[in-house]
Amino acid sequence: MGKDFGCWQSRSKGISTPVGCPPNSVVNLRPSTPKLVLITGATRGLGRAMTGKFAELGHIVVGCGRSRNEIATLARQFPKPHDFEIVDVSSDSQVGVWAARLLSSHGPPDLILNNAAVVNRNAPLWKVSADEFSSVMDVNIKGTANVIRHFVPSMIERKRGVIVNFSSGWGRSVSPEVAPYCASKWAVEGLTRALADELPSGMAAVPLNPGVIDTEMLRSCFGAAAASYPNPGEWAGRAVPFLLKIGAKDNGKPLSVPG
Ligand SMILES: NC(=O)c1ccc[n+]([C@@H]2O[C@H](COP(=O)([O-])OP(=O)(O)OC[C@H]3O[C@@H](n4cnc5c(N)ncnc54)[C@H](OP(=O)(O)O)[C@@H]3O)[C@@H](O)[C@H]2O)c1
Repeated sequence: MGKDFGCWQSRSKGISTPVGCPPNSVVNLRPSTPKLVLITGATRGLGRAMTGKFAELGHIVVGCGRSRNEIATLARQFPKPHDFEIVDVSSDSQVGVWAARLLSSHGPPDLILNNAAVVNRNAPLWKVSADEFSSVMDVNIKGTANVIRHFVPSMIERKRGVIVNFSSGWGRSVSPEVAPYCASKWAVEGLTRALADELPSGMAAVPLNPGVIDTEMLRSCFGAAAASYPNPGEWAGRAVPFLLKIGAKDNGKPLSVPG
């Protein structure tokens, strides 16, 4: 199966008319080289906001999450060539099936955003159950590795592409009551920097601290105080242009979205 992005041109025409253009003139917002951007955890929070911003800029987004309704909504809001599927990144077999389908329909991604993650409910480490501890590791560390296992070989084959693994301020510092989450994000930092040493020149893998943003995850940690932080839409307006500039020169560097 080849790429079938024929509908793109019609989707991208006439989205807006800049100041100074005749009111009904057609404006093509498609960038000269649209990127194929893979986003895990696209159903809400930062992943959802990045999906909207990348699509608005004319890039093609392929994304996943576990929530059936949100995936159906994304598929309606962002039709083909965008592509959204219910995938639990902690399942290596689900990621494998997803990758096989996407690689044959869209080819290798230009940019992977390993964004999906969960946080433990606030509690001292000795009160976190074994199951909850495992689920944080399964999604945040193993989920990231699963996506890399199934998608990165196709990128290595053409020696091109960027892998951004979402870390946290808590991947570089710590706080009480989120020890499992801190451990998982310190792991993401180490895993990513080791991966960077394995990639051929021309590619990059970076751990990214997105900053502090008002999402469901932040509300779980901060409660109502989360509301004093930027919302995901505002954050994506800064983050997406920054993400689009990451390249081989950044390989292995721990990055942070500028505030
Ligand atoms: N918000 C912040 O201030 C902040 C700060 C530092 C770092 N971060 C990092 O930024 C990233 C995004 O965080 P957020 O605040 O947007 O979190 P969020 O609002 O809780 O969203 C998390 C996303 O991950 C998805 N997800 C969770 N488990 C998954 C799984 N097993 N398989 C597939 N998708 C899964 C969720 O979708 P489903 O439930 O539909 O699966 C959801 O779309 C995370 O890596 C987080 O650690 C956030």
